[in-house]
Amino acid sequence: MIIAVDGPTASGKGTIAKALSAHFGLPHLDTGLLYRAVGRQVFLDGGDPDDAADAAAATGFPDSLLDDPALRTEEAGGLASRVSVHPEVRRALFDRQRAFALQPGGAVLDGRDIGTVIAPEAEAKLFVTASVAARAQRRFREMHERGVQVTLLEIEDDLRRRDERDSTRATAPLVPAPDAKIIDTSALSREEAIAAAIAAVTEAA
Ligand code: C5P
Repeated sequence: MIIAVDGPTASGKGTIAKALSAHFGLPHLDTGLLYRAVGRQVFLDGGDPDDAADAAAATGFPDSLLDDPALRTEEAGGLASRVSVHPEVRRALFDRQRAFALQPGGAVLDGRDIGTVIAPEAEAKLFVTASVAARAQRRFREMHERGVQVTLLEIEDDLRRRDERDSTRATAPLVPAPDAKIIDTSALSREEAIAAAIAAVTEAA
């Protein structure tokens, strides 16, 4: 069984994908990490993330880069969002994601275009979303726990900018697949969101 979990930043899709992976005993790929690695590699190369050739060259990043804690930062997320608009970059990362999805036994992938582009045949498709206010609150708490100084307004601005860029890009924009089950986590606790996701996948399978 392939489970596709798509949605915007800080919607809870990562948490949900990990929980589904544990519950159904399937391997999990956080595809955002691949785009973050490309963004980070462009930065290390001194390249321009908005330049298609620079970004495409960075898709040859070493696997070890995927373990770099620097990929978890907001800066890496912003760079990922910029390199991910280039079709050359999306094409270069396609095979790796597709192979992961097709491994025997199935897999859980989370990202932006899993249900629409990477694995349109997925048996279960979830689109996890939440209001900007709810997502900003969560991100704010998370960052303060890590000791990062940032205001709620800055986070909201950044989320809006990333949503705008992810939803309006020409290639593989962030849109729910027509057959995706929408899970709005704005008013749900972590446990409630996970339970809703497990129920939706069980129903689809
Ligand atoms: O999910 P995460 O915040 O790690 O993703 C970082 C950025 O990578 C997103 O803002 C998006 O622009 C891009 N991305 C993408 N397609 C994916 C996963 C991530 O375009 N499948």
